[in-house]
Amino acid sequence: MDLFENEQKIDNEEVQQLIQSAIQARENAYAPYSGFCVGAALRTDNGMTFTGCNVENASYGATICAERVAISKAVSAGYTQFTSIAIVGGARDEEPSAYASPCGICRQVLAEFATDNCKVYVAKSIRDYKIFSFWELYPEGFKK
Ligand code: THU
Repeated sequence: MDLFENEQKIDNEEVQQLIQSAIQARENAYAPYSGFCVGAALRTDNGMTFTGCNVENASYGATICAERVAISKAVSAGYTQFTSIAIVGGARDEEPSAYASPCGICRQVLAEFATDNCKVYVAKSIRDYKIFSFWELYPEGFKK
């Protein structure tokens, strides 16, 4: 195996671990109103992982998405540079049947902390996922 193949393999393992963390976080989704459970896991530039799930509310607009929970946990712990995020979503008690792409508000919030080559893994499982560059998903976003 040459170096490049080896690097690819290590890379894939990291991606799979991040997706697995998102799948695990999804277990705690609080989604009694939509029944749509989402998990997210992000990686910081120094290799830390933070996870989140969606937390719904009887006042529906007070709901917070899984991605923003993970982002808030990371920022409140002092980490503000994110190199990747994995997202898994779907109906409760079912394997995700579609790729759950981050909503517009989450893209705007992520734009604040995403590194130049931040990756977004939108996953159905650890072996079935799509990879995007964050800035490809959110070009020309608002920044101050
Ligand atoms: N949701 C997320 O957690 N992330 C997204 O990017 C889109 C939507 C949640 C919010 C709500 O609890 C449920 O999915 C249905 O919209």
